[in-house]
Amino acid sequence: METVVSGIRPTGNLHLGNYFGAVRSFLEMQDSYNCFFFIADWHSLTTHPKPVDIHQSALTILTEYLACGLDPEKATCYLQSDVPEILELYLYLNMNAGIGELMRTASFKEKVRKQFSMERGVTTETEGEDTEVEGKIFNEGNKQSVSAGLLTYPTLMASDIIIHRAMKVPVGKDQEQNMEMARRYARRFNNTYDTDLFPIPQSFHFGQSGLKVPGLDGSGKMGKSEGNAIYLKDDAKTIKKKVMKAVSDSGPTQMNSVKPEPIANLFKMMEIVSAKDTYAFFDEKYNKCEIRYGDMKKQLAEDINIFCSPIRERINDLSAQPEYLEKVARRGAEKARESAAKTLKEVRKVVGFR
Ligand code: TRP
Repeated sequence: METVVSGIRPTGNLHLGNYFGAVRSFLEMQDSYNCFFFIADWHSLTTHPKPVDIHQSALTILTEYLACGLDPEKATCYLQSDVPEILELYLYLNMNAGIGELMRTASFKEKVRKQFSMERGVTTETEGEDTEVEGKIFNEGNKQSVSAGLLTYPTLMASDIIIHRAMKVPVGKDQEQNMEMARRYARRFNNTYDTDLFPIPQSFHFGQSGLKVPGLDGSGKMGKSEGNAIYLKDDAKTIKKKVMKAVSDSGPTQMNSVKPEPIANLFKMMEIVSAKDTYAFFDEKYNKCEIRYGDMKKQLAEDINIFCSPIRERINDLSAQPEYLEKVARRGAEKARESAAKTLKEVRKVVGFR
């Protein structure tokens, strides 16, 4: 069985975008691959979370993964921070990684830029900040400066993946460059030590994964930071409130006209969660200029609630069973460490340690 690894940073609750973009494909994969799904809590340190929040955020994601149907008997679910073997490999990878190549990655530059504009209270990103960004990078170390941990985000991610000698990594398009780096470090390790220890991991889009769920604010996709998300744990009332507030317009004035983005997004959402004939019904209304968005949104909110409510119930059930969650995490960590230790033993040998 091929090995699959994927991680998620614990930055809040799972939303519909996470579900249809990733989690749903994990559910299918757990039956046919040797899966490792983990919570990247070390990676979350790049944004300096409070100590009291760290474990809780990780447990929240674990709870919601399980509530969605991830089966710890089939897939190995664990917290990254429970598998110290990852860090040793991270160190070896860092020894062969160049600071130049790490500084040139787009996600690093973007994160620096974001951090920078946030501190100045600027929310929109502006061009031409490169010199300021560089100044920032060379600041003395503290929370406000750019950390070496952020710089080496890609080597940690590479380590997450190759510690299990994974071939396949289900990730979104935004992770393409990190995946490119992971391949580079796997290859470089093999070349440096003249070994074929690591397979070269490939990004992987499984089945219908990568389905983009639109946000509710008229443009773009659903995201935690965008404030346009419906969370799997949202109750019926919250869902309704959010959907009724979604951006729409005053309706088409010409038969069969092209849908503007906010409207197309509502339809897209309906396509994802509603029955085919519900979608067809409102699509026809739209084409005949008879659509009433209030009705459509009400239906959409109902259908989202039908989808979310069993997951929500399981989230509530599991949240009341902290011992069970701890047990799942502990068992997952055991299995992950077993796999990681096997790889690390080989790694230490080729690097020159006992
Ligand atoms: N960088 C990924 C993200 O932000 C999270 C991640 C960390 C990951 N390590 C990984 C994903 C290993 C896949 C494999 O979404």
